[in-house]
Amino acid sequence: MSQAEMDRRVREIYEQTLEIEERLIPTGLHVFGRAPGDADSADLLRAVASFDRPEAGIRSLTKLIEEGLSSRTEGILSSAKDACEASLDLRERVGAIAREAIEIFMREGSTISSAFLRSQAGVAEKDSLPGFELLSEVRAGLMINKEIDGLVSALRGEYIEPGPGADIVQNPSILPTGRNTHAVNPYSTPSDLAYSRAESVVKLLLEKQKAERGQYPRAMALVLWGLDNIKTGGEGVAQALRLLGVRPLRDSLNRVTDVEPIPLAQLQRPRIDVVMTVSGIFRDLFSPTMLLLDKAVRCVAGLDEPPELNFVRANIQNEMKTSRLGFDEAALRVFSNAPGNYGANVNFMVLDSQWERSETLGELFVTRKCFAYGRGRDGRTLEGREARDSMGRALSRVEAAYQNLDSFEIGVTDVDHYFEYLGGVSRAVESRAGERPRLYLADALSQETKVRSLEETIKLETRTKTLNPKWYEGMLKHGFRGVAEIESHVTNTFGWSATADAVEGWIYDEVAGTFVLNEEMLARLRELNPHSALALVARLLEAEGRGFWRVDAETLERLRMVYASIEDQIEGAA
Ligand code: BEZ
Ligand code: MG
Repeated sequence: MSQAEMDRRVREIYEQTLEIEERLIPTGLHVFGRAPGDADSADLLRAVASFDRPEAGIRSLTKLIEEGLSSRTEGILSSAKDACEASLDLRERVGAIAREAIEIFMREGSTISSAFLRSQAGVAEKDSLPGFELLSEVRAGLMINKEIDGLVSALRGEYIEPGPGADIVQNPSILPTGRNTHAVNPYSTPSDLAYSRAESVVKLLLEKQKAERGQYPRAMALVLWGLDNIKTGGEGVAQALRLLGVRPLRDSLNRVTDVEPIPLAQLQRPRIDVVMTVSGIFRDLFSPTMLLLDKAVRCVAGLDEPPELNFVRANIQNEMKTSRLGFDEAALRVFSNAPGNYGANVNFMVLDSQWERSETLGELFVTRKCFAYGRGRDGRTLEGREARDSMGRALSRVEAAYQNLDSFEIGVTDVDHYFEYLGGVSRAVESRAGERPRLYLADALSQETKVRSLEETIKLETRTKTLNPKWYEGMLKHGFRGVAEIESHVTNTFGWSATADAVEGWIYDEVAGTFVLNEEMLARLRELNPHSALALVARLLEAEGRGFWRVDAETLERLRMVYASIEDQIEGAA
């Protein structure tokens, strides 16, 4: 390796380490009715402070510090290498000053922390104070906890004060918690903010694919969920519209009921064909939005544009020719469960180990999700008509699939629903298209949008959560439930092997090393919750058995012995 190559590699590793370090890591479960302690509040306040909030005249704390520090060092850097090192150095200093500013704020208040920022980073008080005002409100809001009162009132059938439903970092006005969450106005979806934020996500998503494959994807599958579209004002919906190359239109009552195409000259790229796989919750909460998405597809399909710039039209026309289908059938793109049904159930099949071939998981996904929504040319709504063949044809052209992450607390290894949906659709595409689609996720939760491949996301979450002592020790403080959480992270990780072959072997190596082969840790898990400890070992053995993980014979034998010994413990034989 040349010196330059080595320098580049070291910088890359350093950048990745910083990314892990800077990520907000939940350090335990939320205890119903209990307000967070100081350390958790500090992490949260730092995340809240990192966002620009132009509507409230608030600038991002990190950006303010960065600007202040950069203006002091401008013009003194000679080489590119110096510039690169200086930028890493700057990032580190910005992080350290931000952390200290929050600590000072918590101990001594806004005025003293503002003065600290002026002296350390040249940030004017008038710029930092509006942010601290918000932090004071958030801090006060965190202290008030109405959860138990709210629950008791609900059980009594009494009135509960309403409050918005959102992510706390994106919208701190959700505090105090314990109120009656109201959130959904499908006619305001997507919000202007969501549509504008979707621009950069879609740009990154397409640029990443173009860089990796040398061309834009002709078709993508998008997973749309209800709760995250509530929290983000419909960022997922906005991304679908942007991929198609349309903008939402509001009627005289300010309701989003129509779309208009963005001219190709302005779009400067092809319109991407989008297959939307929608949760039952989304379908129920956003029925006008389901119609809007369908309308957007039909609108784009009707544009007289060259096929190399309008993949939607090209695919639909091709389908009409080769399968002799009418336009209405060939244009179906919005799919969900049958009315009244929910879930793809791929997670249950994986959790119960009830599958032999990976295609089975994809077939289950399609069986559950092949119901079409929208409106035919005659104006009649489809009401969730079964359309298995049409969904299959649409999926057979998909080259990439995508879903948003909307909260730092719930990621791809925290719950089984991400592999249920994104993994499920991936297997469904794989058997129809002949290869696994590329899979991507984006944080809708950070100020700086980032699109990652599924593999990158799994590694990041494994490093920041499952294998991170800060995370698992936080979990273990909850005893029985904490061990169950650790086991469930391992199982959800396994779910990504089952549905997308997306887990590298070292992840299983380190899970085994951390939780099973380390005797002290194993003893703690067994004592706190032998059932989950057993399930964790069983999942590792299953990963080996199904060929997802290659492990040496000695380790395998050891895992088997541990399994047998925990089983004896549970049965009272040991
Ligand atoms: C939803 O918000 O639509 C959703 C949440 C969890 C699992 C599946 C769907
Ligand atoms: Mg669930």
